[in-house]
Amino acid sequence: MSRMKFFAILIFCLTNELILSEAVEYCYSDDEHPYLLAGLKTAYEVEHGIIKNTTVPNCKPMQVWMLIRHGTRNPAKEEIENMKHNLPELQQKIIKNHKQYGKGSLCQKDLEKLRAWKLDPNLDKHKYMYLTAQGKKDLLSLGARFKDYFPELLQPYPLDSSKQRYKFRSTDTERTIVSMDSFINGLFGNVTVNKEVVPSSNDTLLELYKICKSWLDQVSNTSGKSEVDKLLNGPLFGEMIDNVSRRLGFSDRLSFDDVPIMYTACSFENAWHIDERSPWCAAFTKDEEKLFEYQDDLFSYYHSSYGQTLSSVIGCPPLQDMFNHFTKLENGDSNEEPQGIFYFAHSTILQLFLTTMEIAKDSVPLKASNYESMGNRKWRTSHLAPFAANLAAVFYKCDSSNKVRFYLNEKPLDYEGCEAGVCDWEYLKKKIGFKAFNCNANICTK
Ligand SMILES: *[C@@H]1O[C@H](CO)[C@@H](O)[C@H](O)[C@H]1NC(C)=O
Ligand SMILES: *[C@@H]1O[C@H](CO)[C@@H](O)[C@H](O)[C@H]1NC(C)=O
Ligand SMILES: *[C@@H]1O[C@H](CO)[C@@H](O)[C@H](O)[C@H]1NC(C)=O
Ligand SMILES: *[C@@H]1O[C@H](CO)[C@@H](O)[C@H](O)[C@H]1NC(C)=O
Ligand SMILES: *[C@@H]1O[C@H](CO)[C@@H](O)[C@H](O)[C@H]1NC(C)=O
Repeated sequence: MSRMKFFAILIFCLTNELILSEAVEYCYSDDEHPYLLAGLKTAYEVEHGIIKNTTVPNCKPMQVWMLIRHGTRNPAKEEIENMKHNLPELQQKIIKNHKQYGKGSLCQKDLEKLRAWKLDPNLDKHKYMYLTAQGKKDLLSLGARFKDYFPELLQPYPLDSSKQRYKFRSTDTERTIVSMDSFINGLFGNVTVNKEVVPSSNDTLLELYKICKSWLDQVSNTSGKSEVDKLLNGPLFGEMIDNVSRRLGFSDRLSFDDVPIMYTACSFENAWHIDERSPWCAAFTKDEEKLFEYQDDLFSYYHSSYGQTLSSVIGCPPLQDMFNHFTKLENGDSNEEPQGIFYFAHSTILQLFLTTMEIAKDSVPLKASNYESMGNRKWRTSHLAPFAANLAAVFYKCDSSNKVRFYLNEKPLDYEGCEAGVCDWEYLKKKIGFKAFNCNANICTK
């Protein structure tokens, strides 16, 4: 063999080896398309659209009505305690498994990132469920964009102080109040406006689910929890725990507390820092993240949606409110009506409201057992109710028939009987008007 040929073969073998080891060595840190849909913990920045054109020919926008979930928040109290208590120990063990025992299959780079990880020092257990810095940005930029979308309606406040041109209302929690303030700041800058904070004990518009006894009874008694339990105790979830344990170098199966808390860290950290990736996500494959996403969808399907017969009753008051305002505009009471109505609340009421409107309704109910066939399900909380999720309805007065235009998370709502989110008001009244005007919330006092 000539020397040239020998070297050529040697180089061929070496590069081949390189390519091979690269193919085997997956690094989450280098993945340009990480899976970022995380159910109710999905960052708004990965989900929302941009509204290009709000013009409807021969029509004039009269009012924007919005129902808005608070922005990115801190975890719940138990989650924070669990993270503080368990994550540092898991971190040390995973590194030891790889370095000392040669077990586990995280790539070098992911391992180094995990070694450098520290729990966010701002994560104070007394500030559980508080809005985060990113949460303020979510709402500030949402407000700024809506001002651009509807310059005719959302002008600097107040042009005419004798008239209440806008209505802002929030539930009584830090995360919704600060969300409201950030949104107002994005709309109008640092101004003082009229706003209302309603305690949940009195809030039949946005928090009926907290005070409606028949609903509370139904939810606490529902099969929904059992569907989530079936998923958690089923073979898929168990196999996932085994696979994660092996990947992280544990010879024994990790506990059912440890693996979900790593996923909690992964999803929250990705939402808090939208330009960075949490090193905890390296513990999971995309399919495993999809399984956690399904867990959220399954929970919410039975807690706040079609899996519960009373959902469409509890989600009705905001729909009634919207119909009442639009009816006044239809009847020419526009001098009395605000130009913008903004409600700041929680994922539960947003999902209940979407359910009342019959949005994202699957023909087959979500179950623990049909995960594999529900990959294209409509009820996907990542798309419907991420942080800062919002539904906007805009009433247009038109030369001929009036219209309502819907946007969900700044994308035209795909709504049956409407074209790119634009519905005839007469059609809407036929479709859901009866429901809207007959909310039947008296079911709660029974
Ligand atoms: C916006 O859409 C309307 C039709 O809905 C169209 O007539 C108009 O030209 C569009 N404007 C722009 C700037 O694209
Ligand atoms: C907003 O305005 C108030 C009084 O008008 C002022 O005290 C405050 O510093 C301002 N905040 C910012 C962020 O500009
Ligand atoms: C609850 O609402 C009623 C009627 O709107 C009002 O009179 C009362 O002051 C409210 N209570 C609280 C705690 O806001
Ligand atoms: C749950 O349902 C059962 C039977 O339908 C009923 O007896 C029980 O009171 C319910 N529990 C709650 C908390 O509503
Ligand atoms: C666990 O890993 C095995 C082997 O790689 C794979 O075949 C299986 O689908 C994985 N299970 C889950 C639930 O991801």
